[in-house]
Amino acid sequence: MSGEVKEHVRRRYAAAARAVRASGCCGAEPPGIGGELYSAGDRKGLPAQAVQASLGCGVPTAMVDIVPGETVLDLGSGGGLDVLLSAKRVGPNGRVYGLDMTDEMLALARENQARAGATNVEFLKGDIEAIPLPDATVDVIISNCVINLAADKDKVFREAFRVLKPGGRFAVSDMAFQGDLSLLPERLRQSTEAWCECVSGALEERDYLARLRAAGFVDASLEVTQVYAGTTEQSCCEPAGATASCCESVLPSGVRLVSGFIRGRKPGDGRFSVREATPADLPAVRRLLSETGLADGKFEVQFGPKFAVATATDGRVIGVAGVEVHGDDGLLRSVATDAAWRGRGVGDALTRDRLAWARGRGLRSVWLLTTTAQDYFPRFGFARADRSAAPPELQRSEEFAGACPATATAMRAQL
Ligand SMILES: C[S@@+](CC[C@H](N)C(=O)[O-])C[C@H]1O[C@@H](n2cnc3c(N)ncnc32)[C@H](O)[C@@H]1O
Repeated sequence: MSGEVKEHVRRRYAAAARAVRASGCCGAEPPGIGGELYSAGDRKGLPAQAVQASLGCGVPTAMVDIVPGETVLDLGSGGGLDVLLSAKRVGPNGRVYGLDMTDEMLALARENQARAGATNVEFLKGDIEAIPLPDATVDVIISNCVINLAADKDKVFREAFRVLKPGGRFAVSDMAFQGDLSLLPERLRQSTEAWCECVSGALEERDYLARLRAAGFVDASLEVTQVYAGTTEQSCCEPAGATASCCESVLPSGVRLVSGFIRGRKPGDGRFSVREATPADLPAVRRLLSETGLADGKFEVQFGPKFAVATATDGRVIGVAGVEVHGDDGLLRSVATDAAWRGRGVGDALTRDRLAWARGRGLRSVWLLTTTAQDYFPRFGFARADRSAAPPELQRSEEFAGACPATATAMRAQL
């Protein structure tokens, strides 16, 4: 498969790009198969042709915190939708690269860039197995339904790791299998059509994560967003030209095809570390919370090992997060990062550390209340929840009982 697959993939997506350009897309066109995954807010203000060209299986920009000034790289950028969305987030001082090997897709993406008037974007021609960027230059790697198409996934992961800065985030939507891949019919495994349709090149979930770890990534995880039950037969038969015998290839029970959010992080360069808080940290934490507008004075009652601090190499406290324990559940609170350290993974590291601590304590769930960070916490498994569904002991906590405004959004992560 590996020798010929790239050319088949290139031809498949060149045809897709030509089809979008030939359609002379207008605003009334329905979105492409990936476009409908995006919210109306995301689509608004972006060229309809970019939305129509979307062939993704998720929304990677929804799963990662991209902040102004950062450098983002989209592997297999296609018509450029995720690049243009990221460009809005990084702002004029940031930069977004879209990398694609297919000339027709690059032409379409550049047209979309011109339509959007995005000046902080550059589309590069190249292979995601040999990324044409220097080492340690990228803050965030995104990708949407592309890595499954690569012939040598390990090369992709090694290259992604190489170009990321220390602490950089890998946040992609991709296809994966769950279950025993040896059960897959040989015909499906060998089908070039099924490979080009993002099916037979998909890795098994645990294998995916193991390969990421082998490339050096930490905190590797996969969150299923969609299960494609019963659609494999269909996608085998498309586009027209696939053999009828291919249609006999269906997924056996015991194997599921899913798409998901796959995350990982390049370890930091030791510029900050996370540890349990001690009473000696209290003055620094008080100052940090006051600077970030989160000081309510009440956190001090529970301050101690339920809190973690991030410290720079000189020992200075640059971040804090705590989990209050109320019965069998926790309340994540006081997640704050020194302004000079934002966008460098400190909040992520602290939040993950506290969730791991809560899991280790055997807590059932962790809740939080937020007025500003509803889009930040889902990456850690938090989802919006009805405030009234919180356990009674949590409802009686200071934050629920009044320290946080009634308009704050409640979120819960099941552990
Ligand atoms: C399924 S489409 C997804 C496009 C885009 N990410 C989106 O969400 O619409 C796959 C894209 O990846 C590109 N691609 C596939 N394999 C590649 C490789 N090895 N190197 C660079 N680009 C690749 C194709 O040209 C195509 O544009």
